[in-house]
Amino acid sequence: MSPPIMFPEIDCPPPCGQFDLVVAASTNNFIGGDSYIPWTLKSDLAHFRRVTTARPSFVPDSTPFVNVVIMGRITYQSLPDKFRPLPGRLNIVLTRGNSANIPDHPLVRKVGSLDCALNLVQELRRAGPLLTDAGPVAVGSSFVIGGGEIYALAFQHPARRLLFLTRVKVSIDVSLFTRSAFIQDVDTYFTQLKDKTRQLPEEGGLESQVEMWLNSGIMPAVPEADTAPVASEQDTLDKGGDSEEDFLAMMAGAKAADARGRRTSF
Ligand SMILES: NC(=O)c1ccc[n+]([C@@H]2O[C@H](COP(=O)([O-])OP(=O)(O)OC[C@H]3O[C@@H](n4cnc5c(N)ncnc54)[C@H](OP(=O)(O)O)[C@@H]3O)[C@@H](O)[C@H]2O)c1
Repeated sequence: MSPPIMFPEIDCPPPCGQFDLVVAASTNNFIGGDSYIPWTLKSDLAHFRRVTTARPSFVPDSTPFVNVVIMGRITYQSLPDKFRPLPGRLNIVLTRGNSANIPDHPLVRKVGSLDCALNLVQELRRAGPLLTDAGPVAVGSSFVIGGGEIYALAFQHPARRLLFLTRVKVSIDVSLFTRSAFIQDVDTYFTQLKDKTRQLPEEGGLESQVEMWLNSGIMPAVPEADTAPVASEQDTLDKGGDSEEDFLAMMAGAKAADARGRRTSF
Protein backbone atom coordinates (compact mmCIF):
# COMPACT_ATOMS: atom_id res chain seq x y z
CA MET A 1 0.00 0.00 0.00
CA SER A 2 1.23 3.49 -0.82
CA PRO A 3 2.27 5.83 1.96
CA PRO A 4 -0.49 8.14 3.20
CA ILE A 5 -0.89 11.63 1.86
CA MET A 6 -0.15 14.05 4.64
CA PHE A 7 -2.01 17.31 4.41
CA PRO A 8 -0.99 20.06 6.81
CA GLU A 9 -3.88 21.08 9.00
CA ILE A 10 -4.64 24.32 7.29
CA ASP A 11 -7.93 23.35 5.71
CA CYS A 12 -10.11 26.33 5.24
CA PRO A 13 -13.56 24.76 5.06
CA PRO A 14 -15.66 25.68 2.09
CA PRO A 15 -16.75 28.14 0.93
CA CYS A 16 -13.34 29.73 1.40
CA GLY A 17 -12.34 28.96 -2.17
CA GLN A 18 -8.78 27.80 -1.70
CA PHE A 19 -7.20 25.39 -4.14
CA ASP A 20 -4.10 23.19 -4.32
CA LEU A 21 -1.83 22.56 -7.29
CA VAL A 22 -0.31 19.33 -8.57
CA VAL A 23 2.55 19.38 -11.06
CA ALA A 24 5.54 17.36 -12.21
CA ALA A 25 8.48 19.43 -13.42
CA SER A 26 12.03 18.79 -14.56
CA THR A 27 14.96 20.53 -12.90
CA ASN A 28 14.68 23.30 -15.49
CA ASN A 29 10.97 23.78 -14.70
CA PHE A 30 9.79 22.16 -17.92
CA ILE A 31 6.41 20.42 -17.60
CA GLY A 32 5.57 19.34 -21.13
CA GLY A 33 5.92 20.08 -24.79
CA ASP A 34 3.83 19.63 -27.88
CA SER A 35 0.92 18.40 -25.73
CA TYR A 36 2.67 15.59 -23.93
CA ILE A 37 4.91 14.94 -20.95
CA PRO A 38 8.25 13.41 -21.92
CA TRP A 39 8.66 11.00 -19.01
CA THR A 40 6.74 8.06 -17.59
CA LEU A 41 6.69 7.68 -13.82
CA LYS A 42 4.03 5.25 -12.67
CA SER A 43 4.52 6.11 -9.01
CA ASP A 44 3.98 9.77 -9.78
CA LEU A 45 0.89 9.00 -11.79
CA ALA A 46 -0.47 7.04 -8.84
CA HIS A 47 0.41 9.97 -6.58
CA PHE A 48 -1.51 12.31 -8.89
CA ARG A 49 -4.56 10.11 -8.72
CA ARG A 50 -4.38 9.71 -4.96
CA VAL A 51 -3.98 13.42 -4.27
CA THR A 52 -6.73 14.53 -6.62
CA THR A 53 -9.21 11.92 -5.43
CA ALA A 54 -8.45 12.01 -1.68
CA ARG A 55 -11.37 12.70 0.63
CA PRO A 56 -11.06 16.23 2.07
CA SER A 57 -11.34 16.56 5.83
CA PHE A 58 -14.49 18.67 5.44
CA VAL A 59 -16.42 15.89 3.66
CA PRO A 60 -17.88 13.38 6.16
CA ASP A 61 -16.74 9.77 5.76
CA SER A 62 -20.05 8.42 4.56
CA THR A 63 -20.75 11.19 2.03
CA PRO A 64 -20.07 10.50 -1.65
CA PHE A 65 -18.01 13.30 -3.18
CA VAL A 66 -16.04 14.45 -6.19
CA ASN A 67 -13.02 16.70 -6.10
CA VAL A 68 -12.50 19.32 -8.77
CA VAL A 69 -9.64 19.44 -11.27
CA ILE A 70 -9.07 22.74 -13.05
CA MET A 71 -7.04 22.79 -16.25
CA GLY A 72 -6.38 24.63 -19.47
CA ARG A 73 -8.04 23.68 -22.72
CA ILE A 74 -4.79 22.35 -24.20
CA THR A 75 -4.16 20.04 -21.25
CA TYR A 76 -7.77 18.84 -21.36
CA GLN A 77 -7.56 18.07 -25.06
CA SER A 78 -4.25 16.28 -24.57
CA LEU A 79 -5.98 13.62 -22.45
CA PRO A 80 -6.69 10.39 -24.34
CA ASP A 81 -10.37 10.04 -25.32
CA LYS A 82 -10.89 7.12 -22.98
CA PHE A 83 -9.91 9.18 -19.95
CA ARG A 84 -11.31 12.54 -20.91
CA PRO A 85 -12.75 13.84 -18.62
CA LEU A 86 -10.64 12.55 -15.76
CA PRO A 87 -12.95 10.04 -14.10
CA GLY A 88 -14.41 10.57 -10.66
CA ARG A 89 -13.61 14.28 -10.62
CA LEU A 90 -15.40 17.37 -11.84
CA ASN A 91 -13.28 18.69 -14.71
CA ILE A 92 -13.32 22.47 -15.12
CA VAL A 93 -11.70 23.59 -18.36
CA LEU A 94 -10.45 27.12 -18.94
CA THR A 95 -10.92 28.48 -22.44
CA ARG A 96 -11.25 31.92 -23.94
CA GLY A 97 -13.43 30.71 -26.76
CA ASN A 98 -12.76 27.21 -27.95
CA SER A 99 -15.50 25.62 -25.86
CA ALA A 100 -17.21 24.26 -28.95
CA ASN A 101 -14.29 21.84 -29.19
CA ILE A 102 -15.09 20.48 -25.74
CA PRO A 103 -18.16 18.25 -25.87
CA ASP A 104 -20.71 18.57 -23.07
CA HIS A 105 -20.40 15.98 -20.34
CA PRO A 106 -21.94 15.74 -16.84
CA LEU A 107 -18.47 15.96 -15.27
CA VAL A 108 -17.20 18.87 -17.37
CA ARG A 109 -17.68 22.61 -17.04
CA LYS A 110 -16.16 25.25 -19.31
CA VAL A 111 -15.23 28.65 -17.92
CA GLY A 112 -13.47 31.80 -19.09
CA SER A 113 -11.08 32.48 -16.21
CA LEU A 114 -9.54 30.97 -13.10
CA ASP A 115 -11.73 33.14 -10.91
CA CYS A 116 -14.80 31.89 -12.77
CA ALA A 117 -13.65 28.34 -12.06
CA LEU A 118 -13.23 29.05 -8.35
CA ASN A 119 -16.56 30.90 -8.19
CA LEU A 120 -18.26 28.00 -9.94
CA VAL A 121 -16.96 25.61 -7.30
CA GLN A 122 -18.37 27.85 -4.60
CA GLU A 123 -21.71 28.08 -6.36
CA LEU A 124 -21.91 24.32 -6.76
CA ARG A 125 -21.15 23.82 -3.08
CA ARG A 126 -23.83 26.31 -2.10
CA ALA A 127 -26.34 24.66 -4.43
CA GLY A 128 -26.10 21.40 -2.52
CA PRO A 129 -25.16 17.96 -3.81
CA LEU A 130 -24.03 17.78 -7.41
CA LEU A 131 -26.11 15.43 -9.53
CA THR A 132 -23.94 12.95 -11.40
CA ASP A 133 -24.49 9.62 -13.13
CA ALA A 134 -23.45 8.02 -9.86
CA GLY A 135 -26.08 10.00 -7.93
CA PRO A 136 -25.80 13.13 -5.78
CA VAL A 137 -22.30 13.92 -4.52
CA ALA A 138 -20.67 16.64 -2.44
CA VAL A 139 -18.12 18.94 -4.06
CA GLY A 140 -14.72 18.40 -2.45
CA SER A 141 -11.33 20.03 -2.86
CA SER A 142 -10.11 21.91 -5.92
CA PHE A 143 -6.84 21.19 -7.70
CA VAL A 144 -5.18 23.13 -10.50
CA ILE A 145 -3.52 20.50 -12.71
CA GLY A 146 -2.00 22.48 -15.58
CA GLY A 147 -0.77 23.27 -18.02
CA GLY A 148 1.77 26.04 -18.17
CA GLU A 149 -0.63 28.93 -18.80
CA ILE A 150 -2.91 27.91 -15.97
CA TYR A 151 -0.10 27.25 -13.50
CA ALA A 152 1.14 30.78 -14.25
CA LEU A 153 -2.25 32.15 -13.17
CA ALA A 154 -2.53 29.84 -10.18
CA PHE A 155 0.97 30.50 -8.82
CA GLN A 156 0.06 34.15 -8.41
CA HIS A 157 -3.49 33.67 -7.21
CA PRO A 158 -4.11 34.62 -3.57
CA ALA A 159 -6.33 31.54 -3.02
CA ARG A 160 -3.50 29.10 -3.80
CA ARG A 161 -2.73 26.84 -0.86
CA LEU A 162 -0.52 23.76 -1.29
CA LEU A 163 1.69 22.88 -4.23
CA PHE A 164 2.46 19.20 -4.72
CA LEU A 165 5.58 19.31 -6.85
CA THR A 166 7.09 16.16 -8.27
CA ARG A 167 10.62 17.19 -9.09
CA VAL A 168 11.91 14.96 -11.85
CA LYS A 169 15.68 14.96 -11.78
CA VAL A 170 16.29 15.49 -15.44
CA SER A 171 17.02 18.57 -17.51
CA ILE A 172 15.00 18.77 -20.71
CA ASP A 173 16.35 20.28 -23.90
CA VAL A 174 13.43 22.53 -24.74
CA SER A 175 14.77 23.36 -28.19
CA LEU A 176 13.52 19.95 -29.27
CA PHE A 177 9.89 21.02 -28.81
CA THR A 178 7.84 23.38 -30.93
CA ARG A 179 5.71 24.49 -27.96
CA SER A 180 7.07 24.08 -24.45
CA ALA A 181 5.30 24.65 -21.15
CA PHE A 182 6.97 25.58 -17.85
CA ILE A 183 6.26 26.51 -14.28
CA GLN A 184 7.75 29.57 -12.67
CA ASP A 185 10.32 29.31 -9.88
CA VAL A 186 8.29 27.82 -7.06
CA ASP A 187 10.13 29.55 -4.24
CA THR A 188 8.92 32.93 -5.48
CA TYR A 189 5.37 32.00 -4.49
CA PHE A 190 5.63 29.06 -2.11
CA THR A 191 7.66 27.99 0.93
CA GLN A 192 8.79 24.38 1.06
CA LEU A 193 7.63 22.10 3.87
CA LYS A 194 10.91 20.25 3.85
CA ASP A 195 9.93 17.48 6.25
CA LYS A 196 7.15 16.43 3.84
CA THR A 197 9.48 15.48 0.96
CA ARG A 198 9.04 11.91 -0.23
CA GLN A 199 11.36 10.06 -2.64
CA LEU A 200 9.68 8.12 -5.41
CA PRO A 201 11.17 4.87 -6.67
CA GLU A 202 13.64 5.27 -9.52
CA GLU A 203 11.96 4.42 -12.81
CA GLY A 204 13.62 4.07 -16.17
CA GLY A 205 16.79 5.59 -14.77
CA LEU A 206 14.91 8.66 -13.58
CA GLU A 207 14.97 9.84 -9.98
CA SER A 208 12.16 11.98 -8.64
CA GLN A 209 10.70 13.20 -5.38
CA VAL A 210 7.40 14.65 -4.27
CA GLU A 211 7.80 17.97 -2.51
CA MET A 212 5.10 19.88 -0.67
CA TRP A 213 5.09 23.66 -0.77
CA LEU A 214 2.78 26.11 0.97
CA ASN A 215 1.64 29.52 -0.28
CA SER A 216 4.26 31.90 1.13
CA GLY A 217 1.49 34.34 1.92
CA ILE A 218 -0.09 31.82 4.29
CA MET A 219 3.17 30.75 5.91
CA PRO A 220 3.64 33.48 8.51
CA ALA A 221 0.08 33.04 9.76
CA VAL A 222 0.37 29.28 10.24
CA PRO A 223 1.68 28.27 13.67
CA GLU A 224 4.12 25.36 13.66
CA ALA A 225 1.58 23.11 15.37
CA ASP A 226 -0.85 23.59 12.51
CA THR A 227 1.47 22.00 9.98
CA ALA A 228 1.13 18.61 11.68
CA PRO A 229 -0.28 15.98 9.32
CA VAL A 230 -3.94 15.28 9.96
CA ALA A 231 -5.45 13.49 7.03
CA SER A 232 -4.40 10.22 5.54
CA GLU A 233 -5.18 8.70 2.22
CA GLN A 234 -8.11 6.38 2.24
CA ASP A 235 -7.57 2.75 1.54
CA THR A 236 -10.33 2.89 -0.99
CA LEU A 237 -8.28 5.19 -3.15
CA ASP A 238 -5.88 2.39 -3.84
CA LYS A 239 -8.69 0.11 -4.93
CA GLY A 240 -10.71 0.13 -8.06
CA GLY A 241 -8.33 -1.13 -10.65
CA ASP A 242 -5.67 0.31 -12.81
CA SER A 243 -7.70 2.22 -15.34
CA GLU A 244 -6.55 5.66 -14.44
CA GLU A 245 -2.96 4.68 -13.97
CA ASP A 246 -3.13 3.21 -17.43
CA PHE A 247 -4.49 6.45 -18.70
CA LEU A 248 -1.89 8.52 -16.97
CA ALA A 249 0.82 6.25 -18.23
CA MET A 250 -0.59 6.73 -21.69
CA MET A 251 -0.74 10.45 -21.16
CA ALA A 252 2.84 10.68 -20.09
CA GLY A 253 4.28 7.92 -22.14
CA ALA A 254 2.50 7.95 -25.45
CA LYS A 255 5.60 9.31 -27.05
CA ALA A 256 8.05 8.19 -24.42
CA ALA A 257 10.23 6.37 -26.87
CA ASP A 258 10.48 9.50 -28.94
CA ALA A 259 11.10 11.55 -25.83
CA ARG A 260 14.01 9.41 -24.76
CA GLY A 261 16.04 10.98 -27.49
CA ARG A 262 15.10 14.44 -26.25
CA ARG A 263 16.46 14.11 -22.72
CA THR A 264 19.73 15.87 -22.25
CA SER A 265 20.73 14.43 -18.89
CA PHE A 266 19.50 12.18 -16.11
N1 LIG B 1 4.01 17.98 -16.02
C1 LIG B 1 2.79 18.25 -15.61
O1 LIG B 1 2.47 18.12 -14.41
C2 LIG B 1 1.76 18.74 -16.59
C3 LIG B 1 0.42 18.90 -16.20
C4 LIG B 1 -0.49 19.36 -17.15
C5 LIG B 1 -0.10 19.64 -18.43
N2 LIG B 1 1.19 19.46 -18.77
C6 LIG B 1 1.66 19.79 -20.12
O2 LIG B 1 1.49 21.20 -20.31
C7 LIG B 1 1.32 21.43 -21.71
C8 LIG B 1 0.09 22.30 -21.93
O3 LIG B 1 0.29 23.56 -21.29
P1 LIG B 1 -0.02 24.92 -22.08
O4 LIG B 1 0.49 26.07 -21.29
O5 LIG B 1 0.46 24.77 -23.48
O6 LIG B 1 -1.62 24.93 -22.17
P2 LIG B 1 -2.75 24.89 -21.01
O7 LIG B 1 -2.33 25.77 -19.89
O8 LIG B 1 -3.10 23.49 -20.75
O9 LIG B 1 -3.98 25.52 -21.79
C9 LIG B 1 -3.89 26.79 -22.39
C10 LIG B 1 -5.27 27.22 -22.82
O10 LIG B 1 -6.06 27.53 -21.67
C11 LIG B 1 -6.92 28.61 -21.98
N3 LIG B 1 -6.56 29.75 -21.13
C12 LIG B 1 -5.33 30.16 -20.77
N4 LIG B 1 -5.43 31.26 -19.98
C13 LIG B 1 -6.74 31.51 -19.84
C14 LIG B 1 -7.48 32.51 -19.15
N5 LIG B 1 -6.85 33.47 -18.43
N6 LIG B 1 -8.80 32.49 -19.21
C15 LIG B 1 -9.44 31.52 -19.94
N7 LIG B 1 -8.81 30.57 -20.60
C16 LIG B 1 -7.46 30.55 -20.57
C17 LIG B 1 -6.72 28.93 -23.45
O11 LIG B 1 -7.63 28.10 -24.14
P3 LIG B 1 -8.28 28.54 -25.56
O12 LIG B 1 -7.16 28.47 -26.54
O13 LIG B 1 -9.33 27.52 -25.79
O14 LIG B 1 -8.84 29.91 -25.37
C18 LIG B 1 -5.30 28.46 -23.68
O15 LIG B 1 -5.01 28.17 -25.03
C19 LIG B 1 1.21 20.08 -22.38
O16 LIG B 1 2.47 19.72 -22.95
C20 LIG B 1 0.88 19.15 -21.23
O17 LIG B 1 1.34 17.82 -21.48
C21 LIG B 1 2.13 19.01 -17.88
